[in-house]
Amino acid sequence: MSQNTYYITTAIDYVNAAPHLGHAYEKIATDVMARFQKLVGKDVFFLTGTDEHGTKVEKTAANRGVTPQQHTDELVEEFKKAWAYLNLNYDRFIRTTDADHYAVVEQLWRKMAAKGDIEKRAYQGLYCAGCEKFVTERDLNEAGECPNHQRKPEIVQEENYFFKLSKYKAALQAHMQSNPNFVLPEFRSTEVLQMLEDLEDISVSRHKNSVSWGIPVPDDADQVIYVWIDALSNYITGIGYGKDEALFNQFWPADVHMIGKDILRFHAIYWPAMLMSAEIPLPRQIFAHGFININDAKISKSVGNVVSPFTLKERFELPNPDPIRYYLMTVATFGQDGSFTEEDFKLKVNADLANNLGNLLNRTLNMTNKYFEGQVPQSQHAKPGILHADGVTEVHQAYAAFEFQKAADLILQLVDWANKQINDQEPWTLFKEGKLTELADLMYTVLETLRQVAILLSPITPTLSDEMWSQLGYQAKLSDLCPRWDDITHAHIPVGQRINLQGPILPRLDSELAGATKKK
Ligand code: ME8
Ligand code: MG
Repeated sequence: MSQNTYYITTAIDYVNAAPHLGHAYEKIATDVMARFQKLVGKDVFFLTGTDEHGTKVEKTAANRGVTPQQHTDELVEEFKKAWAYLNLNYDRFIRTTDADHYAVVEQLWRKMAAKGDIEKRAYQGLYCAGCEKFVTERDLNEAGECPNHQRKPEIVQEENYFFKLSKYKAALQAHMQSNPNFVLPEFRSTEVLQMLEDLEDISVSRHKNSVSWGIPVPDDADQVIYVWIDALSNYITGIGYGKDEALFNQFWPADVHMIGKDILRFHAIYWPAMLMSAEIPLPRQIFAHGFININDAKISKSVGNVVSPFTLKERFELPNPDPIRYYLMTVATFGQDGSFTEEDFKLKVNADLANNLGNLLNRTLNMTNKYFEGQVPQSQHAKPGILHADGVTEVHQAYAAFEFQKAADLILQLVDWANKQINDQEPWTLFKEGKLTELADLMYTVLETLRQVAILLSPITPTLSDEMWSQLGYQAKLSDLCPRWDDITHAHIPVGQRINLQGPILPRLDSELAGATKKK
């Protein structure tokens, strides 16, 4: 296992409907982290994909009159399209219907069974098909319904295989104790410790009469592996477990499983216990992010507030996905819930990207054309923006700690600082008064700051950063260069470089458009 690798995964999405902003949120955050780690020189593997088995998919497909395979094949394309649009730079898109995944699930099952950790027992329980899990009375609302799906669970009675989860209680507690950053944010760690207090064995298979769309239990054709063993093991299939030993050894254990707060129990308890049983090292960290609500309501089909990345693309005629990426990464402290509103989206993107950043670039390049014939001027006393290492370290720490909002804030402070230099020193006055040395110093400082900002912000806004880079006069594409984080302080914009003014990097989002949809 090399120290220089970084393996990050997302939850794999159920393929019931096209992805919405909540799914996008998690995938963007993961992409931002993956891009940041690349920037600091890590060899990164980024895994995402889809969770395709189980009752819910089976029923959705049946309602549509297609086979589950046809249904998932179609839906997967929706996910891939959305992720391509959002510029997610993943290394593999795993589907739980992939052939290599079947082999891994079977292998994992056999290892756990050989350990004596899987056992057939009679079972009667309440099953919520929406949640894909057995629920208890205390999970239900006063009407006896699953609060997530407003539906009464079914009573299911059958013989199932059980995983002896409770056997791992002490080991899991010990692991949490000696690895305080195993579950982040910290308050989620506390939740997991509470969940561990009363740990029960879990059912890990269903009779094929109740679920046929799934991976069969090895040596028992009547039983199908229940979704969580199937779903969770995607994280090892994705990097070649049992197939490509070199790749697996290079990247396992995962550095981070990025997941939503609703599936914490499965990732922080079930999955580590399964791995302990199979004697596979545990992932280093599980980060449970918050939920994106829309107009303060939970995203739901029945509420009718489902917004997809494409909804925003069309509504605001976005030239690239960076406004969505930037907004979602700054809407809330990562780890807490965030609330999306179109008004807020428009205001934030216009203020930060179109105005502060866009105008800084635009006016700086215009003045470089006007005062220095379009070339980066020679400067004796260029003032560093956050060029000094401390500021750069602060941004580094923010990204590394999943504090994306803080990282963006720090970078935008640098932009504000540069805008203030221009406003205070008035290059047009310096020019008029013939103070060309001071003018050159100022313009160089601002151009250099823009160079830094392009790199610093590139994990969040890769397209806008490419655009800035090109307008600053670089020939190569920033995203192709794979610049090292160290370049931020160690390199500088070359004197004499011919800038390439192309106009605003992002048009202001039209208030009419957002206003019109608000009235609907
Ligand atoms: O849970 N805001 O799939 P899923 C933020 N297949 N994140 C959200 C969200 C929202 N409004 N809605 C959903 C599953 N998510 C399983 C996972 S992993 C081995 C198996 C997140 O399609 C959710 O928290 O219901 C989860 O991390 C991911 O989207 C997929 O949710
Ligand atoms: Mg869900």
